[in-house]
Amino acid sequence: MPILERRIIGFLCNWCSYGGADAAGVSRFTQPTDLRVVRLPCTGRMNPIFVVKALLAGADGVLVSGCHPKDCHYSEGNYYARRRLEVIKRFLPVLGIEPLRFEYTWVSAAEAKRWQEVVTAFTEQIHALPPVPRLPDDTGIERLLRELENSPLPICGCHAGHE
Ligand code: FES
Repeated sequence: MPILERRIIGFLCNWCSYGGADAAGVSRFTQPTDLRVVRLPCTGRMNPIFVVKALLAGADGVLVSGCHPKDCHYSEGNYYARRRLEVIKRFLPVLGIEPLRFEYTWVSAAEAKRWQEVVTAFTEQIHALPPVPRLPDDTGIERLLRELENSPLPICGCHAGHE
């Protein structure tokens, strides 16, 4: 029986992880095809509610990846992200969501190989879980991705005033 592709949403910071994913593609490193990427200016822009919304909308998994600590292009956006994402990870079981469906990590633009390993390991982790039942009209994820594209939130949220 063929293994069905799962729906995994990847929120990637533009400066590091998106570059790493792009470099992995350019280097032709084999990767699973389950990931749909949402490019963020910085993980500091990542509202943890995005994780919950994606999982409730039918995503099988959510992966957030940004610059390594100390390498954030907005100085400390990833530190804010780390605090928020850690809280939401611990909160997922309260909502009845398997916490293994969510991970966050750091991958630089120079780490194409690491990106390949991260995305492969996370995809395998999601495949080991039962698939999330599809919504009847199967539009939840597409609607959410459109919402995220149009959502006017600040980049970082660290109160430093940058946009
Ligand atoms: Fe990449 Fe902030 S710019 S995490």
